[in-house]
Amino acid sequence: MNLILMGLPGAGKGTQAEKIVEKYGIPHISTGDMFRAAIKGETELGIKAKSYMDAGELVPDEVTIGIVRERLSKSDCEKGFLLDGFPRTVAQAEALEDILASLNTSLDYVLNIEVDKDSLMERLTGRRVSPTSGRTYHVIFNPPKEEGICDVDGSELIQRDDDKPETVKKRLDVNIEQQQPLIDFYEEKGYLRNIDGDQDIDKVLRDIDELLKGLH
Ligand code: AP5
Ligand code: ZN
Repeated sequence: MNLILMGLPGAGKGTQAEKIVEKYGIPHISTGDMFRAAIKGETELGIKAKSYMDAGELVPDEVTIGIVRERLSKSDCEKGFLLDGFPRTVAQAEALEDILASLNTSLDYVLNIEVDKDSLMERLTGRRVSPTSGRTYHVIFNPPKEEGICDVDGSELIQRDDDKPETVKKRLDVNIEQQQPLIDFYEEKGYLRNIDGDQDIDKVLRDIDELLKGLH
């Protein structure tokens, strides 16, 4: 099962990805998570990515494509994968076609989670994450069982650096600009499936599940 989860910042890609990969046993490949891990580890990649992420800009294509190529070549991707937040530009989508062709595989679906732009700001500024498990919560829409504490490992929840209101606005603008050409690209290839993301988290998951039923 080879999937892409697409959607604007805050659409719910990470939230749905956590559940899909658990159910289907495929790796979750989030470029945002990979960059955040690199920043935490102070690696060369992290140093390159940090200034772009802090500014709400996209990391340059050649850097992003390189890390995805390397990740998809790992053996755990032979059973399938879920890409979250990649590709984000047509150049990345074209590079992905080449990477998959070289691995003798292809996409099944590109799931495009659609959410009204007005609610994205509220979702992002209310998001809290666990620095240890990476789990995502929301102060109103998906609170942890105990206030401020990740219920899986007990760690204290934090706010992502790029969830401050001024960075959120820039991220939304940048991603809105890139979105339509990418949607057109995948629609033309027949991979695109739109998912109504303006529903509660479990209902969105049920809709995705319904679509994935036909795949092995
Ligand atoms: P990335 O980490 O991918 O950030 P993003 O695309 O901005 O998306 P988010 O992670 O903010 O949102 P999400 O859709 O995962 O929503 P979530 O499930 O958390 O990328 C970060 C940065 O890295 C980029 O800005 C860029 O600089 C760089 N980067 C990454 N990929 C790149 C690429 N391919 N090319 C270049 N640069 C790249 O949900 C959000 C909140 O809403 C949570 O609090 C959640 O609990 C809540 N929520 C979720 N679903 C619902 C629902 N149905 N109802 C109510 N609340 C909900
Ligand atoms: Zn995410």
